[in-house]
Amino acid sequence: MAANRKILLNSGTEIPIIGTGAYAPADAEAQSKVKDWLLTALKNDYRHIDTAVLYLTEAAVGQAIRESGIPREEIFVTTKLPWNHHHRVRQSFEESLHRLGLDYIDLYLIHWPGAVFYDPDNFKPLNPDGTFKTTDSVTFNDSWAELEQLLPTGKVKAIGVSNFSIKTLEQLFKTAKITPAVNQVELHPYLLQKDLRDYCKKKGIVLVAYTPSGYSTVRSDPLILELAAKYKATPNQVILAWHMALGTVIVPKSENNERQKENITLPTLGAEDVERITALDRGERLCNKADKHGQVYGWTYEQLGW
Ligand SMILES: NC(=O)c1ccc[n+]([C@@H]2O[C@H](COP(=O)([O-])OP(=O)(O)OC[C@H]3O[C@@H](n4cnc5c(N)ncnc54)[C@H](OP(=O)(O)O)[C@@H]3O)[C@@H](O)[C@H]2O)c1
Repeated sequence: MAANRKILLNSGTEIPIIGTGAYAPADAEAQSKVKDWLLTALKNDYRHIDTAVLYLTEAAVGQAIRESGIPREEIFVTTKLPWNHHHRVRQSFEESLHRLGLDYIDLYLIHWPGAVFYDPDNFKPLNPDGTFKTTDSVTFNDSWAELEQLLPTGKVKAIGVSNFSIKTLEQLFKTAKITPAVNQVELHPYLLQKDLRDYCKKKGIVLVAYTPSGYSTVRSDPLILELAAKYKATPNQVILAWHMALGTVIVPKSENNERQKENITLPTLGAEDVERITALDRGERLCNKADKHGQVYGWTYEQLGW
């Protein structure tokens, strides 16, 4: 099955090509369900879980892993340094380990290149004009140097970044001693990111696709519907199968038993159909896009290099 495929990272460790996302809204009801649907995902053969401090789901990930009875070393766990912890990498990392209840993390990412002002009680501090309160007292070059220091502890197997562009990666390489193993970014048929793909390939950085489905926007594209009928599959399966054809690691999220099974049993698309889906690209972001201030969590597209 496709889910058992693994991709070798430049750290020497392997990442399963399909993982489950572990994002959940912050409200108590949504959070209370997370452990159960992650446990279902593990029963459905997912062996890679993508969480983050900002999702508030690290504790549920740890609980699901323990309750599953699956040996820890068979499950690949990713978590991320939040935007307001760039100045406190070591503490934040230890807090994540503690919440997960794990001895080590497989992959630790800088979630966003921009540093947000630190308020321990508020992940989303705002300026009076409603923009995100950012800080330039610390840069991602500083926090990357701290991530590099985590590797020799053995408590993390690979380090990487998320939401980085060619521009911010070039800036990172000015000081980095270690090349990121992974760059996790939004990728789907409407957002191919061809230049970033080529750049990361050249540098030996594995791309992980978030929002891999492109939501109902891409699921309802006429070509996707046509191919779903052709392959006797669901639209989501066709989209995820396209990622598999390109060799992209994906972290689709579903709370639903049947949809979890769907997302991990994918058809193999013919080369011509893969090309037709690739041609749907229109550079459209569907998950993280500029707010009314023209910013994404305090940074403009120009700063992000998007
Ligand atoms: N690094 C970052 O900044 C970043 C940003 C966004 C997301 N992520 C990660 O990526 C993961 C996935 O991203 P995402 O949730 O934005 O996108 P996604 O996985 O492409 O889409 C999830 C949505 O699709 C639905 N869905 C799942 N399988 C389906 C199927 N087979 N048929 C129809 N609908 C289906 C889900 O509903 P149900 O749950 O009801 O099935 C949910 O509403 C997140 O959980 C998170 O781990 C990272």
